[in-house]
Amino acid sequence: MSIAVLFRYIKPEVSPKKDPEGFVKGAMKFVKEHVKPRDRVAIMVSGGVDSTVTAALFHLEIGDRLYVTHLDTGFMRLMGGREESEIIDERFSEFKNFKIINARALFYKRVMGISDAEQKRLGFRRAYEISTDRQMAKSECNVMTQGTIMPDIIETEGGIKSQHNVQLKFTKVGRVIEPLAGLYKDEVRRVAEFLWSKYNMKVLKDAPRRQPFPGPGLSVRAVGAITPEKLYIEKRANDVVERMIEEHTRSRFGVNLYIDDRTGEQIPFQSFAATFDGAFIKTEEVMPLLREKTGRSIRCKILNANVTGVREGKRVYSHPLCIESDSELDYDTLKRVGREIPPDTRFSRVLYRVGSKNGSLGYIVAIRSVNSSNAMTASINEIPMETLEKIADKIVERCNVREVYWDLSPKPPATIEYE
Ligand code: XMP
Repeated sequence: MSIAVLFRYIKPEVSPKKDPEGFVKGAMKFVKEHVKPRDRVAIMVSGGVDSTVTAALFHLEIGDRLYVTHLDTGFMRLMGGREESEIIDERFSEFKNFKIINARALFYKRVMGISDAEQKRLGFRRAYEISTDRQMAKSECNVMTQGTIMPDIIETEGGIKSQHNVQLKFTKVGRVIEPLAGLYKDEVRRVAEFLWSKYNMKVLKDAPRRQPFPGPGLSVRAVGAITPEKLYIEKRANDVVERMIEEHTRSRFGVNLYIDDRTGEQIPFQSFAATFDGAFIKTEEVMPLLREKTGRSIRCKILNANVTGVREGKRVYSHPLCIESDSELDYDTLKRVGREIPPDTRFSRVLYRVGSKNGSLGYIVAIRSVNSSNAMTASINEIPMETLEKIADKIVERCNVREVYWDLSPKPPATIEYE
């Protein structure tokens, strides 16, 4: 097996926030330096802003010597009822060498049924490596580029979690070139904005305001062992959450993702649903602490699923605590509970019940919506309870799940995703 040589544009001379055009010039120069005239370059695009901007930069520099592939892993979203892959297909219509590969069978084989989060990620990564190698061979590419950004590198190399695009073992790749490796998400958005305003490439339309989506897709949001039924529920619930929170954000700010120019905070940075098998463990141990934090009597139970949190910069796995109250709690109280309970206990995060239905499928859905500028920290997006209850009703009605919760925990002590 040959080891690919990695070239990362890790220290750009110019920050895209100060001078996006200067950054783009530097990045193009970096690309030019590392791509030889006869090279054929492959990129796997997920549809997110990082891989899209990388593909756009390379396309501008080397045109049709760029071979773009979107892997339909089966873990992509439904968006407004449509398969995300269909939408990505339309966006890349200006690229001559673009194709979609249906790799569902391979990904399902490597990922379904595995309950350990890190093993699932590794299964996904292996399927990604195999598919990429096949694609490289088919398109006779010798070089690869990826939209890897700084947090991906920090988290994987720091042993926090295995991102699917870092530390990969390819057999058919000579060089890997990563022009965005020195950037954080808000900086990539600035580059996308600049490229869109300058070149109007169809692929960049809406890219600056597209919410991040993890490479392993919904496989990390159908928490624990995945079955086809659980994935189906997750797809539909996620679609409801994304759409209804987008509507709410539009009615509040006039756009689907509001960026605070002063702080760089994106509201929301991400909104999505996670689906759990509905097994609970009874507990009374935290009731006194909950009373102390809220001044009320709060019922609680432990969700029997291992989800990720952050303690002292390291990733930890533990159960979420689910709480419910007969009287409505205000946001200051809810946020205090979400922030303060995990560090004082063994729980990774706190979920607050916003909807339920008797006699339905046993799944539990958590709604997550956070604000952030760079994903290293994140705060709760304060969606009014009335809106959350409407979202929960819709999920219960469309997905036939048993209970719906609102995730109260910021990052840290929780992570944005659940695995
Ligand atoms: P966490 O859960 O660590 O997520 O707070 C931070 C940000 O990273 C995204 N994420 C991923 N992106 N591959 C990716 O490309 C991955 O494996 C992955 N895991 C998490 C997550 O959605 C959030 O924006």
